[in-house]
This record gives sequence, structure tokens and C-alpha cells, in this order.
Amino acid sequence: MEYVEKIIDEKIQGKALVTENKKNNTKKLFIESYGCQMNMNDSEIVAAILDKEGYNTTQILEEADLVLVNTCSIREKAETTVRKRLQKYNAVKQVNKNMKVGVLGCMAERLKEKFLEEEKIVDLVVGPDAYKDLPNLLEEVNAGRDAVNVILSKEETYGDISPVRLNSNGVTAFVSITRGCDNMCTFCVVPFTRGRERSRDPKSIIEEIQSMVDRNFKEITLLGQNVDSFLWFGGGLKKDFSKASEMAQATAVNFAQLLDMCATEFPKTRFRFATSNPQDISLDVIHAMAKHKNICKYLHLPVQSGSNNMLKAMNRQHTREEYIELIDNIFRIVPEMSLSQDMIVGFCGETEEDHQDTLDLMKYVKYDFGFMFTYSERPGTLAAKKMVDDVPFAVKKRRLQEIIDLQQEHALYRTQQHLGKVEEFLIEGTSKKNPNEWKGRNTQNTVAVFDKGDYKLGDFVMVKVEDCTSATLKGTVVGYSDNN
Ligand code: SAH
Ligand code: F3S
Repeated sequence: MEYVEKIIDEKIQGKALVTENKKNNTKKLFIESYGCQMNMNDSEIVAAILDKEGYNTTQILEEADLVLVNTCSIREKAETTVRKRLQKYNAVKQVNKNMKVGVLGCMAERLKEKFLEEEKIVDLVVGPDAYKDLPNLLEEVNAGRDAVNVILSKEETYGDISPVRLNSNGVTAFVSITRGCDNMCTFCVVPFTRGRERSRDPKSIIEEIQSMVDRNFKEITLLGQNVDSFLWFGGGLKKDFSKASEMAQATAVNFAQLLDMCATEFPKTRFRFATSNPQDISLDVIHAMAKHKNICKYLHLPVQSGSNNMLKAMNRQHTREEYIELIDNIFRIVPEMSLSQDMIVGFCGETEEDHQDTLDLMKYVKYDFGFMFTYSERPGTLAAKKMVDDVPFAVKKRRLQEIIDLQQEHALYRTQQHLGKVEEFLIEGTSKKNPNEWKGRNTQNTVAVFDKGDYKLGDFVMVKVEDCTSATLKGTVVGYSDNN
């Protein structure tokens, strides 16, 4: 059993993304996104760029002039899914000969020109830092030539592009703040596909949030592969900070400061962020969370393994003991904090003892949520080059099931802690199971469903929690919260 894809709703994987159409736009774009939330947000940037080129979005593949698929390389399964989608596009292209097909994102970056050889139907290959080149690349394609741009950038943050919100609920939205990752975990393909780490100008971040607030959005999630390493000192790569001028260093903005700025500037807006990294997070971030009611008390803090041997082999820059100390500090500063993990089972050389260490660490923390995966070797990573993927698949599967079962127990333990309490929830949509019920999330990111009554999408309401499963709370609204 593959567990839910992280952060994002599994149900939106690969769903055609649409937005309001403009009258003067005559061409039709069909765009699908796989993988992380960053990809979803990148697709919104791509839609904004193509909107200016005369493209409206469509949900009907057969009528598209241009089909774009934003791809993920994180595990082999993610790539297999995209290959299958390409076959589907190919069938449609046989009928609609003028349709062009482009591959965006991490697979584009990883495979580059090889894509054109391997997948004959692909006309266009564009890496995550090259979306502004799309208008030029499309000209090439329309002139009958293949077009490829997979150049990674030291500067590009798309800070000057105002994303077109796709499939939006009008209540919650994502704003990216960093791109790339410099951590080089040995199993991970991200540093190769998304390039070096760079941060976006806080001014453009605040402007984008302002425009979302003006349009009545209530919750903003700040996005990055590694948000804790956010550092703005006038632009450029994080690793060049020590070479920056004294002035630039003195006026630099780190992640804790950015959070503080956002929460202060927009006191009625809820803020979340993802993803945090144990080796880069500072306690200042936790203090900023404690200081501001509108910064949600939820931390996605992947650890990958509870074993020191594995953490070392993975090149995670902390020990199990340091992680535990961090967790203790977090609960000391914010006792109501909700935590989630990412875990990889069956990494190279993982023994039963290592696996037991992971289970023990989970029992110590009792995460509210978890995203768990079997190790999937990715070409080009240090693990693929230097280590042996030696844990048999059946063993990986069994260990995965064990951590999933344990996570399920902890999730139930955590949801039960909400029983009997009255908590604030932001209404963000209709319950999937019952059209007469809203669903919303509290500060801890726990979902509740409750009768709609006279309340509206985007309202902050107080809900008495009366029942729960390991995933969902059920309750009754007792009134508006004072945040409306
Ligand atoms: N910092 C990133 C992490 C990206 S990868 C973020 O913003 O989310 C997301 C998760 O996928 C990782 O935390 C890890 O648990 C898992 N993962 C990464 N590479 C993997 C691999 N080769 N095999 C299995 N799982 C992997
Ligand atoms: Fe990947 Fe590690 Fe960065 S998991 S995204 S290299 S923090």
C-alpha cells in the first residue's frame, strides 16, 4: 500500500487544472500537475505566463491546442504514472494532429533531450527554472521544431509573476518563498532537478500575499523545499551569503523574520509553511509561532529514519538525539504543536534494529500525521552511485506496513485529544461524504466536518468536537470565531 502523497490531496494528483477564462484568449491549454505542492504552484505560474500568450485553460483534453504535464521524479512510481499519461495524450494526438505536448518539471530536468527520443510524442521539454522562456519555446514548436530548455538558474524565483490560481477554493492558497535545495540527502533527486537553493525577495512575497488578502483569501501556505533555510540578502544563492556586503548581511531577512513580518502585516490571515528540515530550523521559528496566533501550530518536520546509522547514510546533518532534543524544545515552547513526519523505510543497509529505532522514535513523538514511503533508488543520486539498494522488496513492504499501522494509532491518539474541546476551524470546502456538511481545519491542521447551518465558505467558526476517527473530527458549530 502506497501511503498518501505528501502535503497535497491525493485526489488532485493529475487532475486538469482550470481557472476563469478570458474572452480574448483563443487558444486552449490543458495542464496537469503531479507531485508536490511546489509543482501545483509552478503550474499556476505557467498558466499566468501562457495567459498572456492567449491561452485559456480547459478540462477537456480532446479540445486542447497545448497539453502540459508538470512532472515529479521523487520516486520511480511518480515517473511511471507520467509515462502512462503520455500514452493517453498520444492517443488523442492521433486524432487531433495539431495538438502540442510539453513536459515540465522534475522529469523534464532529469531526462532533458532524452525525453524527445524516448517519448516520440513530446514536442517541448522545460525544466523548473525555464518557464519564462515558454513563449519563445512555443514559437519554435509552432514552427515545427522540438524545443528544450532545462537550464537551472541561480536567480529565478518567479517573484515578478503573479500566479493564476488554478482549481482554487478561494480560501487557501500557496505562495512560494524558496526554490531548490542544497542539502544533498543521498537518496534525493530534488537538488538535481530543482537546482541550488535561492530565496525570493520578501517585498514580492508580501505583495503577493496582499493581493490574495484583497481577494478574500484567508490562509496562505509559504512553500519551499526547505523553508527554514530562507535567507534574503538582495538575491543570489544561499551559499554566497558570506561573500555579500556587510550592509547586505546586516539587513538580511531569515525565515523566522519573514514569518514575523507576514503575521504582523496580515493579522487576520492564517499562515502555514512547508517543508521544514530538522537540521535547518531554528528555535526562533518556533518562538515566532508562539508569538503569533495567526501562525498555525503545525510543523511538517520530516526525519526519514529514527536510526543514527541511516541518518548518517542519508547525509541528514543531525543525530537521533539532536532530533529528540529539538522535539522537546518545540513542545516546551508550543505545547499544543502538531507534528508530521516523512519516513523512508528500506534505505540501503537498513537492518531490523534500524527499523526498530524508527518505530521507537515514532512512539516518542506520536506524530499527528505521517507520509511514509519505501525507498526508491533514483538515478544520479549519491545513494544510487555509491550504495547498494539491498533491502528486499518484501521486507520494505512489511516495514512500511508496520510504520503505517503505528502512525494510524498515533493519529487516533492525537485526534482523540481534541474531543470535548471547542476549537477554531476555517471553512474551506464541502465535506466529500456529505453535501450538507462543511469541512475545515483547525490550527493543528486537523480536519473536522460539521453541519453547514448558515455559515459560509471562508468563515472562521468555533466547533465543539464530539467524535473522531484517526483522520477526521466531527462536531457542531457553536458560533463565529473572533477572527472574522
Ligand atoms: N524538502 C522536500 C522534500 C521533498 S521529497 C519537501 O519540500 O517536501 C518528499 C519526501 O519524499 C521526502 O521527505 C522523503 O521522505 C521522500 N523521498 C525522497 N526521496 C525518496 C526516495 N528516493 N525514495 C523514497 N522516498 C523518497
Ligand atoms: Fe531532498 Fe533532503 Fe532537500 S530530502 S529536498 S535533499 S532536504
